[in-house]
Amino acid sequence: METFVTFAQLAEEIAREAGEMLTAKRPARPEVLATKSSPTDVVTALDRASEELIRTRIRAVRPDDAILGEEGGSTGDGRVRWIVDPIDGTVNFLYGLPEWAVSIAVEVDGEVVAGAVNVVPRGEVFTAARGEGAWLAGERLRCNTGVPLDRALIATGFGYDAGRRRVQAEVLAGVLPAVRDIRRGGSAAADLCSVAAGRVDGYYERGPQAWDYSAGGLVAVEAGARIGGLNGRPHGPGLTICAAPGLFEELHDLLAPLDPARDA
Ligand code: IPD
Repeated sequence: METFVTFAQLAEEIAREAGEMLTAKRPARPEVLATKSSPTDVVTALDRASEELIRTRIRAVRPDDAILGEEGGSTGDGRVRWIVDPIDGTVNFLYGLPEWAVSIAVEVDGEVVAGAVNVVPRGEVFTAARGEGAWLAGERLRCNTGVPLDRALIATGFGYDAGRRRVQAEVLAGVLPAVRDIRRGGSAAADLCSVAAGRVDGYYERGPQAWDYSAGGLVAVEAGARIGGLNGRPHGPGLTICAAPGLFEELHDLLAPLDPARDA
């Protein structure tokens, strides 16, 4: 019988294996195989190879589970669903920047209960199990608390579509003067783990999908952060906000009048 902790261990093991394969096989300059939502939204052969490895490993031990992967879509319909981003931060992977990750979450009956985010170039694997905490290298993680908005270092990201970016730039113009500074790391999964580790104070972004935020979101929540969307709605592609309670509400109230979930 799997527990949330054993699910997290399995996610970690598979995320480590995918990371080792990616490190061994990454050429100096990976080739773009295809583009998705825009010419800058790229897929490399290793995105696909990583997802295939992860799917094969999950199927070997949990053949009845559903899997949602960024590259391969949805398969199966079990109560347990694995949510996989084979490379989150593909543009960083392409350019050789050190902020990309393999992200694997496990959902039971629609609730994320376990997750692992392997930030491969940094050799850091973040894990979390619901109710059991968030961990990095044997250390329990705690997000920063008591940081007022005007002292807060906030991570964010931008989508691939030019129209959406125009709106994101407008929203950013409202946020930037109100906070300590902004960071754009290039991997939503790693950004959420940075909230958990206190390397940034908060995160918001319009656009990331379940494979980008599910594992990192649990890591952040298990480190004491709150995650949510606008006006009490759950977080999701519309908007994800994440920060310690207190800063979460301040960031939310800064963002809400800027209408950050609009598309034009
Ligand atoms: C992207 C990264 C990026 C975020 C984008 C995501 P991908 O995922 O997480 O930080 O700003 O919204 O799409 O395309 O590299 O898997």
